[in-house]
Amino acid sequence: MVPDRQFEAERSVLDQDEPTRPSKPMGDTMPATTAAPWSDKPALAGQDMASVWDLVSIVAETPRWYRMSAWSGHVPFALWLISVLRPATLVELGTYSGVSFCAFLQAMARCERARQAVAVDTWQGDEFTGSYPEHLYLGLKAHCEEQYGGLARLLRMTFDEALDEVADGTVDLLHIDGSHTYEAVRHDFETWLPKLAPNAVVLFHDVAERRPRFGVWRLWDELCGRHRTLTFEHCSGLGVLAIGPDVPAPLASLLSDPGERPPPAALAARRLFAVFGAELQLPPEPPPVVRKRVPRTPANLWAFLTKRPLV
Ligand SMILES: C[S@@+](CC[C@H](N)C(=O)[O-])C[C@H]1O[C@@H](n2cnc3c(N)ncnc32)[C@H](O)[C@@H]1O
Repeated sequence: MVPDRQFEAERSVLDQDEPTRPSKPMGDTMPATTAAPWSDKPALAGQDMASVWDLVSIVAETPRWYRMSAWSGHVPFALWLISVLRPATLVELGTYSGVSFCAFLQAMARCERARQAVAVDTWQGDEFTGSYPEHLYLGLKAHCEEQYGGLARLLRMTFDEALDEVADGTVDLLHIDGSHTYEAVRHDFETWLPKLAPNAVVLFHDVAERRPRFGVWRLWDELCGRHRTLTFEHCSGLGVLAIGPDVPAPLASLLSDPGERPPPAALAARRLFAVFGAELQLPPEPPPVVRKRVPRTPANLWAFLTKRPLV
């Protein structure tokens, strides 16, 4: 399904050193701390309004690569996260048709710091996805080569085999979305830990998924007690974990300290990204068609022929 939005022109706000702002702030007659009489929150001054628009222009951007995926509702957050984090190196474990990977790439392509985005997958499926056709890999490969050239690297191998391909201490953003058992996701996290840069961020998909055999939630519970984290509940859940103390301020303001409740900004962000993500989520399964059995009687044959109600 292609989302019901037209592709928009690439926005370049992300890489501007000095984002375009009104030369004279609209709100310079209203100090940022002035509260509207009906509100308990400070009013926004003109400068803030410009950054609100920058934010909306990022999260409402249309994905350039869209396929059916349980991940699609997290695309707005992915676009925002890259704009804030500006990773030089991203690694994704589990790429499938490329919805998450291409969202990262779309935003990374505008960051001067970006050096490589690595997607690791056997493209043979696992116990959760089942096997899938070869054209998923071939189509994604062609798209990445055409659109992102040297930035994107597709490694068709197991996550363990790919460990030899990435230098220790270099990964700024790791996205783990492979097999979803507790043992598998824990193995993926622990084996890739040495690859992380000191202030890396790690994403886990399916942290809110409680179906049988899914165990990401269990690992996520453990990690939330030890690290600063942000948890999204929509679209099977996405966990965001900060490894080191130094993350960009917009992300830091959303993180909970280990074992603590989320700050108010995180609750607002969860709602914002769920709303924008909902537009991109899979449509609900259509209800099964139930055919009513109609007795094959002469009366019904007559009713059918004369377009009267069947009995
Ligand atoms: C849930 S899908 C990834 C979804 C993807 N992130 C998206 O945006 O739609 C999981 C993928 O991980 C791959 N996978 C699982 N375990 C793996 C492993 N140990 N090594 C390589 N690939 C693996 C499967 O082939 C599958 O394509």
